[in-house]
Amino acid sequence: MTEAKKLYVKTYGCQMNVYDSERMAETLGVQGYIQVDTAEAADMILLNTCHIREKAAEKLYSDLGRLKPLHDEKPDLKIGVAGCVAQAEGGEIMRRMPIVDLVVGPQTYHRLPAMMEALDRGETALDTEFPEEDKFAHLPKGRGTHKGPTAFLTVQEGCDKFCSFCVVPYTRGAEVSRPADRLLREARDLVERGVREITLLGQNVNAYHGAGSDGAEWGLARLVRDLARIDGLDRIRYTTSHPNDMEDDLIAAHGDCAKLMPYLHLPVQSGSDRILKAMNRKHTADSYLRVIERLRAARPDLVLSGDFIVGFPGESESDFQATLDLVRSVGYGSAYTFKYSPRPGTPAAERAQVDAAEADDRLQRLQALITEQQRATQAAMVGRTVQVLFEKPGRMTGQVTGKSDYLHAVHVDGPETLIGSVAPVEIVATNTNSLAGRLVARG
Ligand code: SAH
Ligand code: SF4
Ligand code: F3S
Repeated sequence: MTEAKKLYVKTYGCQMNVYDSERMAETLGVQGYIQVDTAEAADMILLNTCHIREKAAEKLYSDLGRLKPLHDEKPDLKIGVAGCVAQAEGGEIMRRMPIVDLVVGPQTYHRLPAMMEALDRGETALDTEFPEEDKFAHLPKGRGTHKGPTAFLTVQEGCDKFCSFCVVPYTRGAEVSRPADRLLREARDLVERGVREITLLGQNVNAYHGAGSDGAEWGLARLVRDLARIDGLDRIRYTTSHPNDMEDDLIAAHGDCAKLMPYLHLPVQSGSDRILKAMNRKHTADSYLRVIERLRAARPDLVLSGDFIVGFPGESESDFQATLDLVRSVGYGSAYTFKYSPRPGTPAAERAQVDAAEADDRLQRLQALITEQQRATQAAMVGRTVQVLFEKPGRMTGQVTGKSDYLHAVHVDGPETLIGSVAPVEIVATNTNSLAGRLVARG
């Protein structure tokens, strides 16, 4: 019997990449690869990369540099680069780093089996097309390698919005939505494998407009409502959504669909209308705040999160103050803050840049405000009973941890048999990035 070939996958970037990594591992699984946890143990290494900021993209090259000695030791070791850097840089990666044998973009990884055959013939393989065919239709049907009670499910890919700072429309291509019946099938398969919570993914997930099972076009709200009818699926989330695609029926679903969790990541980027215009966001601070108002009217306890860029070209101190004002009026449960990073090929990269020290200072001031809001949101949970989906053993023996409805990490003293189930927990204390709770006896 020949020994199974071993695959090590490293994932950078967003949840979409996490999903893609899982699907690539499944595809290579059909080719006889099993996954291992270290690069040293592998016959094939796949780096699934992110191009969103300069630092993210550079990580690929520092990791490839670190893999060089391993490659020298094991000349048969195959190294592949997937994801958004692969799409953006293509064959340049192999020229810069000759240890790379394979480069595959986010829209062509269903062709990995044929590409692996090329490697077996001693060739290299490069495919960064945006093909006509639907890659999902060519991937293995079942989600055989998925483990754990939570899963991602990509429902929409790509972006047509072209914010002036962002590479995603170039690395992921145009907006495409998957047909609802395939998504329902994939969701049922995941639930049969023990999944209790599904997070629907898309670069603009609420721009979902897919062919419905009834022949009509469905928006995200209709998809969520149909998924909610799957027995055994307890929780639905979605990310990342765009404020301009927050349609009435989706807002309504937050109020009347019990399985849709009360947490929403809704990036705004800036609180200054001048900067939002320069970013080509096509919304104002006020229109964003009105969307939040409507969401909160539907679901008063909704916890919000966001993304912010500071130091965007042309941002003045008063523009930045407008961002702080917006953050104060929303009151976020958490948020991601980024310093603007000029990206090749995007319009904003050509503009005069904000002084780096000034941008660092703004980043710190914004982070301080967000940390304060995060603490306040967590402190307000103390004394409340929340529902926790337990995912894994805790750091201390005898503990288990999971996520609350509001996506807070919660740990309790309790048996590992809780993993995979939802149970009521009374929150007793708040730590820096998690909550401590006590299991509530069910009446
Ligand atoms: N599709 C999502 C976000 C995708 S990228 C949306 O539209 O909101 C995730 C986040 O990275 C963005 O929300 C933005 O805050 C940040 N980002 C994107 N490009 C960036 C850049 N050039 N510099 C700094 N941050 C960036
Ligand atoms: Fe990037 Fe803007 Fe598209 Fe989000 S909406 S992926 S930030 S271009
Ligand atoms: Fe990064 Fe591509 Fe996701 S650039 S954030 S991996 S869509």
